[in-house]
Amino acid sequence: MIPELSNPSVLMKDPQRVQEILESMMKAGSNTVQVISDFDMTLTRFAYNGKRCPTCHNILDNSKLITNECREKLKELLNTYYPIEIDSARSIEEKLPLMVQWWTKAHELLVQQEIKKDLLAMVVRESDAMLREGYQLFFDHLHEHSIPLLIFSAGIGDILEEVVRQAGVFHSNVKVFSNYMDFDETGVLKAFKGELIHIYNKREGALLNTGHFQELRTRPNVLLLGDSLGDLTMADGVQDMENILKIGFLNDKVEERKQSYLDSYDIVLVKDETLEVPNAIMLYLTGNK
Ligand code: TMP
Ligand code: MG
Repeated sequence: MIPELSNPSVLMKDPQRVQEILESMMKAGSNTVQVISDFDMTLTRFAYNGKRCPTCHNILDNSKLITNECREKLKELLNTYYPIEIDSARSIEEKLPLMVQWWTKAHELLVQQEIKKDLLAMVVRESDAMLREGYQLFFDHLHEHSIPLLIFSAGIGDILEEVVRQAGVFHSNVKVFSNYMDFDETGVLKAFKGELIHIYNKREGALLNTGHFQELRTRPNVLLLGDSLGDLTMADGVQDMENILKIGFLNDKVEERKQSYLDSYDIVLVKDETLEVPNAIMLYLTGNK
């Protein structure tokens, strides 16, 4: 049906079920579809030429806006908590308080750095952030077909918006839920706004934004893209859901995590740095137009 589903990077526990969901969504029409996607390591690349690509937080960590001492502390946090994030031997319940610790400590450190709002664009420009190959088609096609794209990220909203803007694809159909910086009247970072979004509370984040999902209630068919098991709850606010197709990027610790990803995502993309499969699905849903 979709030749790209035979790509070597594609794994599916139940290909028949994937086919049924896709057929049902296609019949309902692309005007009933909405896309909900994670940002870091889902819309952005995990690695390029063997080198890791930065998350929103890493873009700041690696920048000249923070002191070397702070950089060291943030690196220590990353070295402590990232292995926990991807540890398949620990349950989400066990990881959750540790992830809150990570985000809280990292945000406290960033706030101490008196980061200036008007330097963020430069920092993003100078970073190694990269959207996945095929991003142009992905964003442009969704826009052309007026399909809403919600980017739901535990990263930093100001940074991710800048990445998407600089790539020239921040179209009017794109909406972002994320952690936004709060600046004082002189444009210096003083806090983060609202409820913290971390990797395992996206369900709560979704339920705080009922207005958005209410607006999209005529779109009960959802394409969900993520790279963490925490991303699976991003669509929990969707009203009267009819179909959901979950696509998961499995970037790291592939063997240990493969089974749990196959059990929770309909399509698992193993070490696939492209948006080829999501794009093929989108083209199928819009009648290849
Ligand atoms: P996402 O929801 O857009 O994927 O963003 C969450 C990612 O951010 C998650 O994979 C961990 C990462 N992260 C850092 O790289 N550095 C940090 O300091 C924090 C708090 C998170
Ligand atoms: Mg992610």
